[in-house]
Amino acid sequence: MSQPGHEITAPQSGGPMRVLCISGSLRRDSYNRKLLSAASGLAPPTAELVQWGGLKALPPFDEDDEHTPGPAVFALREAIARADALLIATPQYNASLPGQLKNALDWASRPYETNVLRGKPVAVIGASPSPSGAARSQAEARTVLAAIGADVLDTQLALARAHEQFDSYGQLAADTPSPRPPSGDANPNQEDSSMYAILRRNSYDATKLAHAEPALAEFQAMHAAQPGYCGSIVVDIGDGQRVAVNLWATERDAAAGQTALVPHLRRLLEPLMSGPSQLVGAGEVVASDLARSGPTTDQPSATTQEQP
Ligand SMILES: Cc1cc2nc3c(=O)[nH]c(=O)nc-3n(C[C@H](O)[C@H](O)[C@H](O)COP(=O)(O)O)c2cc1C
Repeated sequence: MSQPGHEITAPQSGGPMRVLCISGSLRRDSYNRKLLSAASGLAPPTAELVQWGGLKALPPFDEDDEHTPGPAVFALREAIARADALLIATPQYNASLPGQLKNALDWASRPYETNVLRGKPVAVIGASPSPSGAARSQAEARTVLAAIGADVLDTQLALARAHEQFDSYGQLAADTPSPRPPSGDANPNQEDSSMYAILRRNSYDATKLAHAEPALAEFQAMHAAQPGYCGSIVVDIGDGQRVAVNLWATERDAAAGQTALVPHLRRLLEPLMSGPSQLVGAGEVVASDLARSGPTTDQPSATTQEQP
């Protein structure tokens, strides 16, 4: 493995450094693939990140085919050979790296003495919904790569709670600009800024709701205190049904606010509902569009306040 502080040197060709990105997950909405896409977007002009999509096509490694592999294996070896460096993002499967990623590394590792990974700078990162961020799987991948002879970089990135880290466009939520000031400071003159909206439909038990002012007011106060909360619009659509639009500065604020409010939701609001609330939609809205839509969406009273 490389020493701490080791850096990849620029290619002698003078062109951008070609970095081959390999996601260890085949899943369509893979967080690891999103992580590599985010890396592409953040890369400096001196680096060209190329996403490799051939993992699924690789056959299972067979030593009998080692010297006469099929086209998918040739393509893998050639892609690695052409790259100045590799960036691998791996999920964790049962405390280790995914089988198909290990399979790809096994194919790339032969013939052992002259394999395309020998001396190749490789960084391993990973993402997982768990708090560990696939750290164990990354460690195993580094061990395998070191055994193959790659120049394994010390760079580490274990993206924990991956399901909360990307916005609806697949961008890292931390990179999403937060155009609105925190709760309570919203500037009504601010033009063309975006907010994150969550739409829910609820059916209330009218008999209980009539006596529910204190519970609703308490919940509203908790809601208003959440960082990034920008207010809500509640539309009564009759028959005890309401559609609530809750607005947040960013998707991350919305996720954090909902998590924080869930225990209070269960205690204060769910006893008033005649059925579970349903998520209707979520996504970015343009603040100026809302401002233009006029006063029909006035501040809701306590009796129309909503769930997170
Ligand atoms: C077979 C299997 C085993 C898994 N084992 C683990 C595990 O050991 N640790 C963990 O944090 N997540 C585990 N997961 C959950 C994955 O981290 C999660 O599905 C993740 O989103 C996969 O990465 P991706 O989003 O890039 O596809 C496992 C998932 C599968 C399908």
